[in-house]
Amino acid sequence: MMNTISSLPCQRLFWAIVFFSFLIRVAVEEIRYSVFEETKTKYIIGNLSKDLSVDSKGLRYRKARLDYQGEKRYCGIDLESGNIFVLERIDREALCGTTTPCFLHFEFILENPLQLHNVILEVQDVNDNTPAFPKDTIKLEISETVSTGSKFQIARARDLDVGINSVQSYILSPNEHFSVDARSSKDRYVDIVLKSNLDREIEGEFSLLLTAVDGGNSPRSGTVAIQVFVQDVNDNAPRFSQPLYRTRLFENSAPGTSVIKILATDMDEGANGQITYYMNHLSDSTHNLFHIDENSGEISVTGNLDHERASSYEIEIQAEDGGGQTGHCKVQIEIADVNDNAPVITVKSLINPVPENIVVGSEVAILNVKDQDSGENSRVSCSIPMNLPFKLQHSIKNYFTLVTTTLLDREQIAEYNVTIMASDGGTPTLFSTTTMRIQVGDINDNAPAFVLQTYGAYVIENNKPGTSVCSVRAGDPDWRQNGTVLYSLVPSEVNGVPVSSFISINADTGVIHAVRSFDYEQFRNFNVQVVARDNGSPPLSSNVTVSVFITDENDNSPQILYPAPEGKSLMTEMVPKAALSGSLVSKVIAVDADSGQNAWLSYQIVKSTDPGIFSIGLHSGEIRALRDITESDSMKQNLIISVKDNGQPPLSATCSVYLLISDNLAEVPELKDMTYEESNSKLTSYLIIALVSVSTFFLTFIILMVAVRFCHRRKPRLLFDGAVTIPSAYLPPNYAEVEGAGTLRSSYNYDTYLTTGSRTSDFKFITSYNDNTLPSAQTLNKIQNQNDPFEENSFIVASSDSEWLVIVQYDIGC
Ligand SMILES: *[C@@H]1O[C@H](CO)[C@@H](O)[C@H](O)[C@H]1NC(C)=O
Ligand SMILES: *[C@@H]1O[C@H](CO)[C@@H](O)[C@H](O)[C@H]1NC(C)=O
Ligand SMILES: *[C@@H]1O[C@H](CO)[C@@H](O)[C@H](O)[C@H]1NC(C)=O
Repeated sequence: MMNTISSLPCQRLFWAIVFFSFLIRVAVEEIRYSVFEETKTKYIIGNLSKDLSVDSKGLRYRKARLDYQGEKRYCGIDLESGNIFVLERIDREALCGTTTPCFLHFEFILENPLQLHNVILEVQDVNDNTPAFPKDTIKLEISETVSTGSKFQIARARDLDVGINSVQSYILSPNEHFSVDARSSKDRYVDIVLKSNLDREIEGEFSLLLTAVDGGNSPRSGTVAIQVFVQDVNDNAPRFSQPLYRTRLFENSAPGTSVIKILATDMDEGANGQITYYMNHLSDSTHNLFHIDENSGEISVTGNLDHERASSYEIEIQAEDGGGQTGHCKVQIEIADVNDNAPVITVKSLINPVPENIVVGSEVAILNVKDQDSGENSRVSCSIPMNLPFKLQHSIKNYFTLVTTTLLDREQIAEYNVTIMASDGGTPTLFSTTTMRIQVGDINDNAPAFVLQTYGAYVIENNKPGTSVCSVRAGDPDWRQNGTVLYSLVPSEVNGVPVSSFISINADTGVIHAVRSFDYEQFRNFNVQVVARDNGSPPLSSNVTVSVFITDENDNSPQILYPAPEGKSLMTEMVPKAALSGSLVSKVIAVDADSGQNAWLSYQIVKSTDPGIFSIGLHSGEIRALRDITESDSMKQNLIISVKDNGQPPLSATCSVYLLISDNLAEVPELKDMTYEESNSKLTSYLIIALVSVSTFFLTFIILMVAVRFCHRRKPRLLFDGAVTIPSAYLPPNYAEVEGAGTLRSSYNYDTYLTTGSRTSDFKFITSYNDNTLPSAQTLNKIQNQNDPFEENSFIVASSDSEWLVIVQYDIGC
């Protein structure tokens, strides 16, 4: 170190020595020296011999020595020259620290004679120490809210040197916020002063360098790094990037679907920047629909959305940081429609039942069709099946009317199930259907109609009163009372008697009953009109003719007209003696009031006087000679003849025929012998009288008939042409059949009728006759039976305008 000291300290040292030497002379026992610390060893500080005026030669002898109270000696003495020199390194800082001036006290001791001198060595400072801070780095935590001018104390740097060599100034690295102020602080700190406000959000950390510089000749410096951490204060509220967020969501979004993620930022740090999100002011309806994740700010669906209930939501979101600062924004969620509602059909009014006579084009029903969706999804169209007598018309808004397109007929279709289908315009389309059951109400528009055009009732005569004769039936397709048929008879008369005394009809069932017992022989048929009337108002009706035919029963036995029954009169036929075989002798005439088989008579000889002479025609009743009459034959012949009808069971009658084989009436008196039974002579005379009177009567009858024919040409004529005639007096009462009819040959149609009906009567006899017999009117047809000219000639008398028809057939004898 001494090498580095220039001439200036040497001069100073010189003057110091001079000065001290002078002092020593004044105060003998004390001598002072000065030396710089860290001076190299052997450096001669001064000369004690000279300064203390001690002979340097006697030093060794006098055992001169330098005493120092301490471990070290620092300085020594050269016994030859008497120089005091540096023996070892002297460190002022170690010896004195910060004390100034720094003295080392030695004692210079000489023996023989003992001499004691105080040697004071002042150790002078050299700038050999660097300022040093207690730490290398200092952390400063400063809240960003701290106001300007605030001071922060930093421990000063220490320099072991003293005086000018100690720390003289502090320098802070350039920055905009801080400065250093070393003046104000006296003791151990320097102040770091805040010049301008801090903002952690702008700059949260600074690195400063504080340098302490000492005042040495070549100044030394020490530094400390100051780390400034700006401490956060919750001076920022959370902030959303936009005040309103809009989003769109389909109404069918499932719970859990994310709606939107909103983000707020907070410049603060830590808890002050920790944001939690809330939804504010939620209505009850919204409450369960959305949820916001507190931490992430993601809004998601939690409930079932329905565009039809609410088409948009506005939610206020609050973001809150840990320090309680809040920020707000709104989220507008639009709920988009999905075609999730089928149209709904409502029947607003319906005429039911619809009267069947409703005018074409009338409104039957009014329908309302609604679809809760919106837009195209709610555009509704309606249709009904094509095959119905209705159509749909669109009226105002979403109303439709159902009108009739054709006439209705309840009797054909009484009920329609009209299915209305409504579909919307969404994709996929949604449908709904409604079925209206439209009933057609009845109108009494159908008259009862009889099942048959005409009815024929066949009643066997002698029926019990009350027997059902036939039943008529009329149908009426109308409903209930409009279709309820009641039957009644049209009042009329049959033969002057009200028809109701013959038959009656059950009003409900249409069964016709006979009121009385009929007699075929009295009348055979009559017509009655039956009305069927429904119960509507006004009622409708129709009528039908019921022809009642009374059929014959074999209730009449044959009646023999000729010869008269026994006991009444006695007639004898004359048979010429010369009668040949086959000649007609007589004829039995019988009638049967019945008709048909019941009146088909057959004749038989039951008993005869002389069998083998006469035979009787089985059906003609003609008695003919079987062989030529001979003289030997008995003059009186008696035949008992049975006449039998063909009924089941057959009825029969018998008669006797008396034959007298004689050519002369003069033999007549013998007649009385001819009776088998005992008949007195009186009877014989009666017989004669009767015969004569009958003949007369018959003649009169013939004349009368001819007269009638000429008088009433239009009246039917009975034609008699033959040997055998029958007096009309023999006709039975109420005998509607013309005489002779019952005896017709079976080869002819034997039915003859006297009809009281018109010619339109459909009685079968006309058609069953030969065709030739039909067309005649007012004419007489003669039908020659070509095959059997011997047999009969038939005549038919027909009258066109008379109410009756007579057919007369008679045999003409050869
Ligand atoms: C209409 O529908 C009802 C009930 O389904 C049914 O009973 C009736 O027979 C139907 N009518 C027609 C005419 O189809
Ligand atoms: C019968 O027809 C009439 C009209 O002719 C109608 O007013 C009435 O309602 C019908 N009766 C029934 C039971 O249908
Ligand atoms: C019977 O019907 C005919 C035609 O249908 C009609 O002219 C006549 O008046 C009806 N008679 C009665 C009594 O109803």
